[in-house]
Amino acid sequence: MSTRRARVAVVASAIVLAGCNGTSSYLDATGNAGRSEAILGQWLTAVACAVVVLVCLAIVWGIWRHRGEQNAPSSGKSGTERREIRSGLRWIYVGIAATLVVLLVTFGGTMVTLNAASHPPRVPRLEIDVTGHQWWWELRYQDRAHPDEGFVTANEIHLPIGIPVRVRLRSADVIHSFWLPQIAGKTDVIPGQINEMWVEAKQPGTTRGACGEYCGLQHAMMTLPVVAESPEHFAQWTAQRRAEAVAPMAAEAHAGQIVFSRTCGVCHAVQGTNALGRVGPDLTHFASRPSIGAGILRNTRANLMGWIVNAPAIKEGARMPAMPLDPADLNAVVAYLQTLR
Ligand code: CUA
Repeated sequence: MSTRRARVAVVASAIVLAGCNGTSSYLDATGNAGRSEAILGQWLTAVACAVVVLVCLAIVWGIWRHRGEQNAPSSGKSGTERREIRSGLRWIYVGIAATLVVLLVTFGGTMVTLNAASHPPRVPRLEIDVTGHQWWWELRYQDRAHPDEGFVTANEIHLPIGIPVRVRLRSADVIHSFWLPQIAGKTDVIPGQINEMWVEAKQPGTTRGACGEYCGLQHAMMTLPVVAESPEHFAQWTAQRRAEAVAPMAAEAHAGQIVFSRTCGVCHAVQGTNALGRVGPDLTHFASRPSIGAGILRNTRANLMGWIVNAPAIKEGARMPAMPLDPADLNAVVAYLQTLR
C-alpha cells in the first residue's frame, strides 16, 4: 500500500471509528467516579460563569451610579466623601466574604470528588493490570476469587456494570495516562512505578478510552473501546477471552498459522499455539476486536493486509516493522488471523 493510500485509509477509518467508539466527553459520564467529576466540572463552570456575570453587573452598576460626576481636587475630605469611603470598604468586605464562601464550597466539593475517585465502595474482586506501550494498551485481567483464570488482551476493555474494578497501571516505556473519560477520569502511567485507580461502570454502552498524556508521535492513536455490559455478558466475554485459540480447519488458514508462527510469533502471542512473543499485542482473539493498531484502522480484511505489509506507513513510528510477505503467504496469514475469534 502506498503511503498516500495508507493516509487516506487512516483518515477514513478514524472518521468511522470516531462514530462507533461513541463520544468521549467527560461531562457525559456513566461511571461512578466519572459521574462525580462531571458534577464537579459542571458546578465549577456554573460558579465561574456566575462570578463573571456578577462582576460585570457590579462594574456597570458602579459606572451608572457615578455617571456625570467629576473628580475635583480638594484640600480636605467632606462628610459625603468620608461616607463614600466607608461604603466602598463595606463592598470590599462583602466581596472577600462571598469569595471565601465560594472557595470553601468548591474546596469541599473537590475533596468529596477526590474521595469518590480514589476509594471504591468495597474491595474490588476484579483487577486489571494495564500496561501502556508506545502506542497501544496491554490488559491482563485477574479475578481474585479465581487466580488461575486470568487472561491477556489488548486495546479493548470490558467492564461489568455495578462491580468495582481495580486497575493497576504500568508503563513499558514513557509516561502515558490511562483515560476512560465517562467512567473514571484519567490516571498517569509512569515508568518504574505502579499507579492504581478504580473504575465502576453504571450504564451499558460503548464509549472511548484514550491516552491522556502526550507520549510521542502516535499519542492520539492510543485508543480503546470501553464496553460496559451486564455481569452476564461480561462473564460470557471473559469465558471467550480465556479460551485458547481454536486450530483452523481450512487449508489456507492452517497454512497461515504456520507462516504466522514463523514470522509474527516472535513478537505476538496466540494462546494455545507456539506463537509466544510478548513484544506486541496478544492476538488470541484478534478477529473479535473492532480495530487494528489501537484504533487507527477498522478491523477489515483489506485494512489488515495493508497493516501487515507496511504498518509504519499507516501509523508512523509504530514498532511493528513492514512485513513484505509474498501474496500467498499474506492471504494465508490474513485468513488465519480472521479465524481468531
Ligand atoms: Cu500514550 Cu499518549
